[in-house]
Order: sequence, then C-alpha cells, then structure tokens
Amino acid sequence: MFAKETNCSTAAAEAIALFVRLGTLHYGEKVSQLDHALQCAHNARLAGEGEAMIAAALLHDIGHLLHHEGEDAATRGIDTRHEITGATWLRERFGPEVSEPVRLHVDAKRYLALRQPGYVGSLSPASLESLALQGGAMDEEEATRFEQDPHHAEALRLRDYDDLGKKDRDDLQSFESYHDMLVRLAREG
Ligand SMILES: [Fe+2]
Repeated sequence: MFAKETNCSTAAAEAIALFVRLGTLHYGEKVSQLDHALQCAHNARLAGEGEAMIAAALLHDIGHLLHHEGEDAATRGIDTRHEITGATWLRERFGPEVSEPVRLHVDAKRYLALRQPGYVGSLSPASLESLALQGGAMDEEEATRFEQDPHHAEALRLRDYDDLGKKDRDDLQSFESYHDMLVRLAREG
C-alpha cells in the first residue's frame, strides 16, 4: 500500500516539477507551456470530460519539456516528435486513457487538416509551422487508419482543447491543484 502511494505520488510530483521548472518556455506560441497546459485542462473540464481526459489535456505537451532540441526546434526545421516522447513518458506512469490521446494529438491535427474545411487557417502560426514538419494534412489512407484507432475520438477532442488553449488569460487554477487527480490516475508501478 505504501509502495503504491509512493509511486503514484512520484508520477504526479514529476509532472508538476517539470512544469514548474520548464513551464515558462513558449515553443513559438504566445502562451507559455504552463499557461497552455492549464487552459487545455480547463477547456476539458468545461466540456464535461472525466479526469483521464483532463489529465491528458493538462499533460499533452509534456514531451516538449522532455526533449533537448530547445524552444526553437520547429523554426530550425526539426520535428521533435514531442507527442511520442510525451506518450512514452506518460505510458510508464498513467493508463492508456491518458497516454493514447496524447500520442495521437498531432495525428488529430493532420486528420483535421484533411477533413475539416477551414481548420488549417484557424491554427496558430506555431502550430501551422509544426504541421508542415509533421507531414502536413493526412492522405486518405492515413485518415482511414486514424479513424480505426480506438482512441481517435478522444484525440480529436483533445485537439480541440489544445487549439483553443492559446489565449491570454490568468484566471486559471494552479498546476499544483491537479496533484490529487494525477495521483488517482497514476499507475501502481
Ligand atoms: Fe498543445
């Protein structure tokens, strides 16, 4: 029992420590990683999502805080594959209902770029820049494969919270306030 509590608390503490230490970075967006994470989680909560999706929204860009390519990687033409780095980190600490939408959140952007008229034009400049590096809009074959993924619907909802989470606002609850939720969701390890 003690080991379970320790491991679950560790996962939550690690996530919080990463955002406290590196959350001021921007990665080309107007908002910092910390503000972006809080807005996305807030958007998920407002939409009536459960804790796993709120956590996925909160942690979906954690891969940016784990690679060593720097804030300007996209400008230098590097796709850091942050969705894979992030999902791998999350999979070791949380269940697939948290890690899988994160793994697919870039694919969701590429899917919407194919399927949703006007979507590409609605993206932030940084997201547009990374879209090109990430392969641009999906082709039909990729889109069909994406639709067959059991987590694609969650990934599309996460994408929505992500795209809307880049505003200027400072009325959100702290990252630390998600500690207990993250502990509840963390794997026993
Ligand atoms: Fe994001």
